[in-house]
Amino acid sequence: MEVIQIEGGHRVTGEVNVEGAKNSALKLMAATIMAPGVTTLTNVPNIADVHVMGKVLKNIGARIEVVNEHELRIDTSDVDSWETPYHLVAQMRASTAVLGPLLSRFGRAIVAMPGGCNIGARSIDMHILGLEALGVEFSVKHGNIHASAPHGLVGNTVTLSFASVGATENLMMASVFAKGTTTIDNAAREPEIVDLANLLNEMGAKISGAGSPVIEIEGVSELHPVTHRVVGDRIEAGTFLAVGALTGEPVTVRGFAPLHLGIVLKKYEQMGISVERGTGCCTVWREGPLLPTDIQTLPFPGFPTDMQAQTMTLLALAKGSCVITENIFENRFMLASELSRMGADISIEGHHAIVHGVDGFSGTQVKSPDLRGGAALVMAGLVADGITTVSAIHHIDRGYEGFVEKLASLGARIRRTELPDVDEEDL
Ligand code: UD1
Repeated sequence: MEVIQIEGGHRVTGEVNVEGAKNSALKLMAATIMAPGVTTLTNVPNIADVHVMGKVLKNIGARIEVVNEHELRIDTSDVDSWETPYHLVAQMRASTAVLGPLLSRFGRAIVAMPGGCNIGARSIDMHILGLEALGVEFSVKHGNIHASAPHGLVGNTVTLSFASVGATENLMMASVFAKGTTTIDNAAREPEIVDLANLLNEMGAKISGAGSPVIEIEGVSELHPVTHRVVGDRIEAGTFLAVGALTGEPVTVRGFAPLHLGIVLKKYEQMGISVERGTGCCTVWREGPLLPTDIQTLPFPGFPTDMQAQTMTLLALAKGSCVITENIFENRFMLASELSRMGADISIEGHHAIVHGVDGFSGTQVKSPDLRGGAALVMAGLVADGITTVSAIHHIDRGYEGFVEKLASLGARIRRTELPDVDEEDL
């Protein structure tokens, strides 16, 4: 079993570059289906989720040339299938992002839903309701969702009951070729939505309002391939800034827009962290103790749920108590029990985590509960007493390129290593 081992207490400081945003790259890759020909994406992160999306695209007939580690040429000329298989979709919820593009290109799509999801299931109901308003009909056969638009896609006004990122993206992509105008009301405003709208507009779409709660899409008849650079990953950036905030010495992160972390940086300042915002970069450091601050996750521009775990690690060491409220996902406090094994004092009540700051963490063996929770455990290991061993690191590989190498370049004593004679399932 491969694990990450960290020896705590070493000086961590310096500069680190972040990659393109995972959550943007995946949707941009899916969008290439709509513009037959060769689209080049640059600043693509070299991470497991991108590899899965590559397999999804290849499976339907795309050819992908890896120009270099961060540049993909995706040729969608010969895409001739509108069906994505379960074994790929099951690996990544974001693979449902091909639903909109396939409907746009072929007027139909067959997408296996991620395990446990049925039509109407809460996790995709907004995608379904929104697409139905555009003329898409759905049925379920053998665990697959069959979607088709027998009379073509027709523009409409769709009001989302919650500003869902995935539903906004799918609707935006499905309406690019719809007859007339589509309005997405209560749309998600994440920077990744804006990046997707920018790509589609460069390809010839007519989308306005992305980044605001109302997005308008005027139908066009075709898109053409382009070259596009993926927006910098604000969550990877936030993670390394959290590392600097935790360890105290200056850490500078380059390759993203500090405005995309507006409220995170504001909260970090309230926590006693010094923040210097630059153009495309940001530096943090800390001289005094970490101070407690209440956090509640909300859709952008609110505090991102994807920064909740890393911030929990910080708040677990703050001088006092605070409450973290998770409003976006259920079950997103799985980090708390692992962090408690390292000495944190966190209790969970529904979607609130009550965090009482402790003086320090002690290194032990812990298991990544998910992508951000895994990163947050590695962070804790940087300041823990002794050795921390983090298992289930495939979660971390899904979304962070070279996480260990980047932390090592900042001075951390960290390595990937094999634990002989231990199986993941045994833990
Ligand atoms: C995306 C991001 C994820 C981030 C999240 C919120 C990707 C690949 N992932 O996920 O990292 O944490 O945005 O910023 O981009 N929901 C429904 N019905 C729906 C759709 C969503 O109930 O039809 C619920 C979900 O179960 C979840 C919440 O709404 O509880 C947020 O989901 P959504 O904004 O759609 O997030 P994702 O697009 O899945």
